[in-house]
Amino acid sequence: MVPFLDLKKINDSFQPRLGEAIMHTVQSGWYLLGEEVDGFEKDYASYIGTSHCVSCANGLDALTLIFRAYIELGVMKPGDEVIVQGDTYIATFLAISECGLIPVAVDVDPVTLQIDIDKMKEALTAKTRAVAIVHLYGRCAFSEEIARFCRKNDLKLIEDNAQAAGCKFSSDRRTGSLGDAAGHSFYPGKNLGALGDGGAVTTDDPKLARMVRTLAFYGSEKKYIFNYCGRNSRLDEIQAAALRIKLPRLDEDNMRRREIAKKYQSEITNPDVILPYPDDDKAGENNVFHIFPILAKDRDSMQEKLREKGIQTLIHYPVAPHLQKCYKGKIPVRFPLSVAEHIADHELSLPISPVMTDEEVNMVIDALNHPF
Ligand SMILES: Cc1ncc(COP(=O)(O)O)c(C=O)c1O
Repeated sequence: MVPFLDLKKINDSFQPRLGEAIMHTVQSGWYLLGEEVDGFEKDYASYIGTSHCVSCANGLDALTLIFRAYIELGVMKPGDEVIVQGDTYIATFLAISECGLIPVAVDVDPVTLQIDIDKMKEALTAKTRAVAIVHLYGRCAFSEEIARFCRKNDLKLIEDNAQAAGCKFSSDRRTGSLGDAAGHSFYPGKNLGALGDGGAVTTDDPKLARMVRTLAFYGSEKKYIFNYCGRNSRLDEIQAAALRIKLPRLDEDNMRRREIAKKYQSEITNPDVILPYPDDDKAGENNVFHIFPILAKDRDSMQEKLREKGIQTLIHYPVAPHLQKCYKGKIPVRFPLSVAEHIADHELSLPISPVMTDEEVNMVIDALNHPF
């Protein structure tokens, strides 16, 4: 049996230091807003390459707090539009609509599986205030062309970095430092996963960082004085301590993910499978392979055959956000999202993780190449 993701094995590989760090925090008697959180925010800002990191409760909150902060700062107002790629986890959309902004879904490129830049440009209206790019599946979605388009049209560029911790755009620029602000998730299954929920905002903008911190602390900067209707969204000391143990190994873990991806890309030969990113440098650091997505002709039967052979796979994601009941017919879809819908019908995610053995990787390849 090859599990999709063996979280116990991943966390066991950090022992005994992980357990010791947690026990140290338990014994410290200090569980929120303490030195572990402070330390992690500094470590993570320096790792990502931004001047600020504000931790919070999860990735959805991180993205939501960014948009809320821009509203409180007068940069955006409810009713404004945010262009967002149509193939993503629903959280990217939820963060936008929760703030009264309108997610304008645009299609993705069939090769990169990232935002289609021409369609992004066509979606611009007088109400557009931001573009939300998603480093989906762990692949960098940023390009200088997107940044130029945002600068030229006075739009904020928001990165959803939930799936791409450690990813690089170039040798000295990581995702999470490329736009105006980025939301990160430390959900346990992410490349940098906590032992529960966790998230962060990174940015170089001190005003934005301050507003995000204020909104995440009930809307208060001064004890019992509330200038904004905020929320309580915090990373706790135990999660921060765990993340500080795990962060130093993130690059090495991502390298192992790339090694597995490279093997999948060169050894999977089933003609019914379309392998991702044919044009990318296979060893390139622009992809940390949070997910290894294949497109299969008959996805559901392939998933079933793999299951029979003991290979666990998942689908990311079976229904695109604009077709979910919560959004269908309620948000603008300016152009057909045929590629996003095609991906939803054909995508299958293969097991990939830093603790997979070569034997397990070979079992996945063999099962895919000999499905009958
Ligand atoms: C692309 C994307 N955005 C946002 C999120 C939200 O993160 P969280 O689960 O920490 O709220 C996730 C993860 O679940 C995600 O995959």
